[in-house]
Amino acid sequence: MSDRLFEELLEETKRLFVEKFGTAPQTLVAAPGRVNLIGEHTDYNGGYVFPMAIERCTIIAASPTTSSTATIFSNNMGAVAEFVLDPDVPPAEKVEWTSYVQGAIALSIKKGAKVPGFNAVINSNVPLGGGLSSSASLEVAVATLMEELGGVSFGKVEKALMCQQVEHVYAKMACGIMDQFISALGEKDYAMLLDCRSQKPEMIPFVDPSVSVLITNSNVKHELTGSEYPERRASCEEAARRFGVALLRDVSLDELLASKDKLIDAENGDRLFKRAFHAVGEDVRTLKTAEALKIGDWETVGAQMYASHDSLRDDYEVSCPEIDALVDIARNIGMSGGVIGSRITGGGFGGCTVSLVKTDKVDEIARILKEEYKKRIGKDATTFSTRPAQGARVL
Ligand code: GLA
Repeated sequence: MSDRLFEELLEETKRLFVEKFGTAPQTLVAAPGRVNLIGEHTDYNGGYVFPMAIERCTIIAASPTTSSTATIFSNNMGAVAEFVLDPDVPPAEKVEWTSYVQGAIALSIKKGAKVPGFNAVINSNVPLGGGLSSSASLEVAVATLMEELGGVSFGKVEKALMCQQVEHVYAKMACGIMDQFISALGEKDYAMLLDCRSQKPEMIPFVDPSVSVLITNSNVKHELTGSEYPERRASCEEAARRFGVALLRDVSLDELLASKDKLIDAENGDRLFKRAFHAVGEDVRTLKTAEALKIGDWETVGAQMYASHDSLRDDYEVSCPEIDALVDIARNIGMSGGVIGSRITGGGFGGCTVSLVKTDKVDEIARILKEEYKKRIGKDATTFSTRPAQGARVL
């Protein structure tokens, strides 16, 4: 299915380039979005994540020019922007799509890319703001283009870390390393178990044709103050500090439970404990899931996914009623109806769920999810299935 979507996106991008700039593009690059199977809010704790790249991506078509600026059309935004190729221009006050582009260009130049003036069209079929890392796919696509136009190769890990900096400095989001890593390093037919402390990925084959990944977009995005993600991060850091370690990754579940009182006080109640309990428990679940997936033990995989969801809802408190409804509907369909497991995916507060389902039941499951969601929440959910896709590449 996805090859068709990819081809369509590619053809449209090329066509738009000709329309805007009058010639065919010289260079084409792509970088995918991602879905995280399990291991949520663990990356900034030095823990484990288990994402895969999805068959949705950002494509950029480009050609160098003799000018000293870059002219870039974003098809998704329906807007053109002009960029001066000066890495010292400070990040804009207000974060917009241009912030990611400006950041990826600037840091690439700082890293040695000799970027000429260029024209480009950006086109993406990763749902924007849906928790599938549309922004990481944009940053990584721009960085990949900079390698091509600038005659350098950063190396995939370096490129991912650079794009994380783009997010920190230009998009003002203190994210971990998961999204940029999987967009840069993803491989077709593999999920990636990433140890976020050593930054060493283990690629685990995900090829069983009888199991599919079904992504369901709740199509809600809650208005947040922006303090939610940093609050979670700060709580984990405070918990680690009280255990005398740099990262929560270094506290075991036994240690955490034995010294629970270190995290409970009048000011925070049991909030710090709950945050740490999620992060530490999620590492255990993630490792179990990766092992179970290797041997096709789908029952264990499913149980870990539901446990992850419950923990993110109750202890980490990053879910919302709409997402809980989707997971509940999937859970009610159950193994007999073809659902192996389901959970919230990504940063939270809306966005998507990820479900592992029997391939021969995927259409039926998608239908029930949409129907029941409409009944319970009164909104339309959208679904698509995907297999693990290739990371960033020159086309
Ligand atoms: C966002 C961040 C990631 C990660 C997830 C939660 O996607 O960008 O680094 O922290 O949230 O797992």
